[in-house]
Amino acid sequence: MKTTVTTLATALCIAGLSSLAQAQETTWSKDIKPVFDKQCLACHDAATPEYAKFKKEKDIWMKKGLGMRMETYSHLVSFVGWPNAGALMRRLDDGSSKADKKPGNMYEYLGADEKERQANLQLFKNWVGAWNLKRWADLTKEDLNGIKVAY
Ligand code: HEC
Repeated sequence: MKTTVTTLATALCIAGLSSLAQAQETTWSKDIKPVFDKQCLACHDAATPEYAKFKKEKDIWMKKGLGMRMETYSHLVSFVGWPNAGALMRRLDDGSSKADKKPGNMYEYLGADEKERQANLQLFKNWVGAWNLKRWADLTKEDLNGIKVAY
């Protein structure tokens, strides 16, 4: 009987923990999209081109101060994993872990002040999972396995 009670208690505890973890998981739809829409959409919406097209017409878009499409989940994850591995991380990073301490050039758009920028950076970090600034060629299988990007 005692074993049964303990087993049941353990099972309930594990179930409780996993639902807690689920509730706290950072997802694109719940956490990232609202921040992206507020801070990034103005320059990365559906009216801007696919990345490959942007690169061909770079001058035109740069003159307008606009970037490339990133407003859907599918577009955004392509700047995390493949083909533009680490682009999102390199551009949003605050530079604190780098030798030159230089933040990525999209860091400034994360918020109006340092507090907001840091909070939103943390949100992106939680969403990405294994946050690193490596390019595709330098990424290990372990780095890739650490990427979460939950929908
Ligand atoms: C005022 C306009 C503007 C805002 C706001 C803005 N961006 Fe950008 N972004 C650009 C432009 C223009 C480029 C292309 C030039 C460059 O590479 O720096 C770019 C490039 C990027 C790239 C690099 C893509 C690549 O691989 O070449 C990423 C990633 C990015 N932006 C993410 C974001 C995120 C995330 C936000 C919101 C926190 C954001 N941007 C807000 C204008 C903007």
